[in-house]
Amino acid sequence: MRFLLLSAICVGASITIPMGLDRYIPAPDDNPMSADSIALGKRLFFDRRLSRDRTIACSTCHDPQRAFSDTRPRAVGIAGKKGSRRTPRIANRAWGKSFFWDGRAKSLEEQVLGPIANSLEMDLEPEVAASRVGLSKGEMQRALASYLRSILSGDSPYDRYLAGDEGALSLRQRTGLELFRGKAGCASCHLGPNLTDEEFHVTGVGGGADAGRFAITGVEAERSAFKTPSLRDAARTPPYMHDGSMASLADVIRFYNEGGNRRVPGLDGELQPLGLSVEEQVALGAFLEALNGKIRDGL
Ligand code: HEC
Ligand code: HEC
Repeated sequence: MRFLLLSAICVGASITIPMGLDRYIPAPDDNPMSADSIALGKRLFFDRRLSRDRTIACSTCHDPQRAFSDTRPRAVGIAGKKGSRRTPRIANRAWGKSFFWDGRAKSLEEQVLGPIANSLEMDLEPEVAASRVGLSKGEMQRALASYLRSILSGDSPYDRYLAGDEGALSLRQRTGLELFRGKAGCASCHLGPNLTDEEFHVTGVGGGADAGRFAITGVEAERSAFKTPSLRDAARTPPYMHDGSMASLADVIRFYNEGGNRRVPGLDGELQPLGLSVEEQVALGAFLEALNGKIRDGL
């Protein structure tokens, strides 16, 4: 791993890293970020030629106007085909440890091939996609991954509050933050600069219909475990969860208040009925809105 100070990526180009994030963006040794690779990756991200019938780009689902997600409960790809999972937001994934809801990709370079080859998404052999845009498969992978690392969200009211600006959060939001860290126990999984432990947990969302992490590891305790998502900009992108089954943050908070879906076996021990009052639930929701930040991408 190489840690790059982005104000030095190359002459004449620098990335201003929003407040609240690490000043270094990790990138693998064999794919250092450069202005050229970021710019190329950005063009590819919006390029519909990467799908078999030239109708779908990465940005079709990961819409920059919608915090790099969309409004659908389940992703819709080529020819209107419906996937089984929701499109996640993808800011700050440079710091991710594994990718997809089940963590099946170990790097962003590996991840980017998934949607291109997926018959329900872009449905094109990655070699063919790369040749359409005049690149090798490796060049396409590296450029897309570099661009993904440049998509950053920070400088939210929460970040400004942590940096010492007391007034950045309302009184209600401060109550919500206390609950988030304390009584509601959210921070045992949603922690750090990106509000995720990057680990897999069984919360019971979906009632066990999707095997989640178990399909990758075969470990029974990980049946229907999913990766903790970042909560940055979550308030901007309903619906929620890997299956888009919750319409609002209020629904999500009500779900946690009940201790998750307690009918699903192997539920994470951190989840217990919380006994939050309506006012406390509202405060928690107000705090989550303070995680809406400034999103930037590319150079
Ligand atoms: C048809 C909609 C769709 C398209 C097109 C699409 N994605 Fe996604 N993306 C998704 C869905 C759904 C997931 C989660 C899939 C899963 O977990 O099985 C996802 C997951 C991801 C993730 C993982 C995020 C994380 O936190 O684990 C990244 C990064 C990503 N996509 C980037 C891309 C790139 C780059 C492209 C274009 C090459 C692309 N996506 C095309 C819907 C789409
Ligand atoms: C045991 C770990 C754990 C705890 C504790 C926890 N979460 Fe989560 N959170 C997760 C996981 C895992 C998911 C994804 C579940 C899924 O989609 O199947 C998730 C999803 C979410 C989502 C949906 C985000 C999205 O993009 O869909 C929100 C919002 C959220 N959690 C907020 C909270 C709040 C608020 C609390 C405290 C009341 C909390 N979480 C406590 C692990 C946890």
